[in-house]
This record gives sequence, structure tokens and C-alpha cells, in this order.
Amino acid sequence: MNQYEDFAFIYDELMNEVDYNEWTNYIESIYKKENVKVKNILELACGTGNLTIPLAKRGYNVVGIDISEEMLSIAREKINKEGLDIVLLNQDMTQLDFDVYDMDCVLCGCDGFNYILDDVQLEELFIKVYSILKEEGLFVFDISSYFKLSNILHNNTFGENREDIAYIWENYFDENENLVEMNLAFFVKEDDKFKRFEETHYQRAYTNEEIVMLLKNANFKDIKVYKDFTFQRDDGEGERVFFIAKK
Ligand SMILES: C[S@@+](CC[C@H](N)C(=O)[O-])C[C@H]1O[C@@H](n2cnc3c(N)ncnc32)[C@H](O)[C@@H]1O
Repeated sequence: MNQYEDFAFIYDELMNEVDYNEWTNYIESIYKKENVKVKNILELACGTGNLTIPLAKRGYNVVGIDISEEMLSIAREKINKEGLDIVLLNQDMTQLDFDVYDMDCVLCGCDGFNYILDDVQLEELFIKVYSILKEEGLFVFDISSYFKLSNILHNNTFGENREDIAYIWENYFDENENLVEMNLAFFVKEDDKFKRFEETHYQRAYTNEEIVMLLKNANFKDIKVYKDFTFQRDDGEGERVFFIAKK
């Protein structure tokens, strides 16, 4: 299974319509609402650093972890350009090896946990996250919702035809396993030709109830489930669901 290899080098361009500054504002508004003082953040599945970098610029100490060396290589380039001091670790978060036990916040933005296909592994990760948070520390993450994966992506094909990049994105939703297989074919302009490459991604569709149960099993308290960058409880129709939980 190849994920975020060649794709890493065009990821930022394809995500250029996502406003990561607003996303960072939302994260900070969560800290404010929860009345938690945050300085040290561990960010899981940090990718090319789209949240890591704005958070570091706002004065947080951030450590970023990602399984894709290619995604981290882009993050490193951007961090060096900005002259920032951010530690990046190339790790599979399901085997998280992190021994600092007083983090104020553990963060995972933009559906990193949907890539954990096994709920037992996700629960084990939640237990590890609990152990590295300080008392009252915050766990903040979002997932692509069950509704989005099962109804919107479902068995549908999406595509985009830009000047220098085009892609075809085919989805197959397995209702028994609650897994979506995403077959991605990219076409990237190089000189006057287009190079084609493919990746296959698998994401697990978790219901809000499943995630809340896993959080409770890991001992988290004050669990909140918000819809699409708001502070409204998700009604099952949000596409990006945010979970906030306290140690
Ligand atoms: C949609 S990207 C999000 C990246 C970044 N958080 C952002 O907002 O742009 C998902 C990321 O999850 C990472 N990822 C997937 N499975 C992982 C794992 N088991 N451990 C660590 N990172 C993982 C991928 O490499 C990728 O960078």
C-alpha cells in the first residue's frame, strides 16, 4: 500500500483552498473555551506541517509525528525556510514511541485517525495519548465523519482538472468492514508532458459513538463532539467531526 509518497510533493498545492490559519484559530478557540493553558503540543500525523507551522509561529512548542518521510521532508523544507524550531519524528503513531509525559495538548488534524483501520489499535493509541498528557491536558482531533465516508465518498468518483495537476479519485465503500478504498491517479505536468502516478489509501469510517466509547475506555473525561469547525454538537451530518477530551 503506497500512501503519501509521490502525493506528498503535490499535497500542499491540492490543499491550497484549505484555510489552515482559520483552522489554527479554531484550535486556539478550543483552548480558550476549555480554559486550558497550552504551551507544549504533540501533533500526530502532522504531514507537511500545515497546522504545525502556524501553531509554532504563534508561540507553541510543537513536536510533529508522521509515518510518511516524504510528507516530513516537505514540512522540514517549510520549517527551515521560516527559521522555526520544530522537532519532527518519522513514526507510525500506532507504535508511538514518545516518552515526554507532561504534554498540554495532543492534536491530530485533518483525519489522520481515519487511517487507523483497526479500532483496537486506535484504543491503544488513545491510552498512550492519555499517558503522555498532563493532568487536565487536552486531546483534540478531527475525523472525516461516518456520514462523509459512507454517503458522500461512498462509491463515487471525484476529479479535478487544473492547469498543471489533474487527478481522478475513485472510492469504494465496504459496508461490512466500514472501510473506504480510495484509488487515486495523479497527472502532474513536467515540462510539456504529464507524469502519471497512483496511490491507494484506506480509511476507516468510525461513528461518533465508537470514538466516544474508545475515549471513555482510555479514561478520558469531558468529551465533546463538534460539527465542522463550530461548537455545535454533531447531529450525524457533519463532514468533519471534532473531538475534544480531557485527561
Ligand atoms: C490528510 S493528511 C493530514 C496531514 C496534516 N495533518 C494536515 O492537516 O495537512 C493525513 C496524514 O496522516 C499520516 N498518517 C497516516 N497514517 C499514519 C500513521 N499510522 N502514523 C503517523 N502518520 C500517519 C499521513 O502520512 C498523512 O501525512
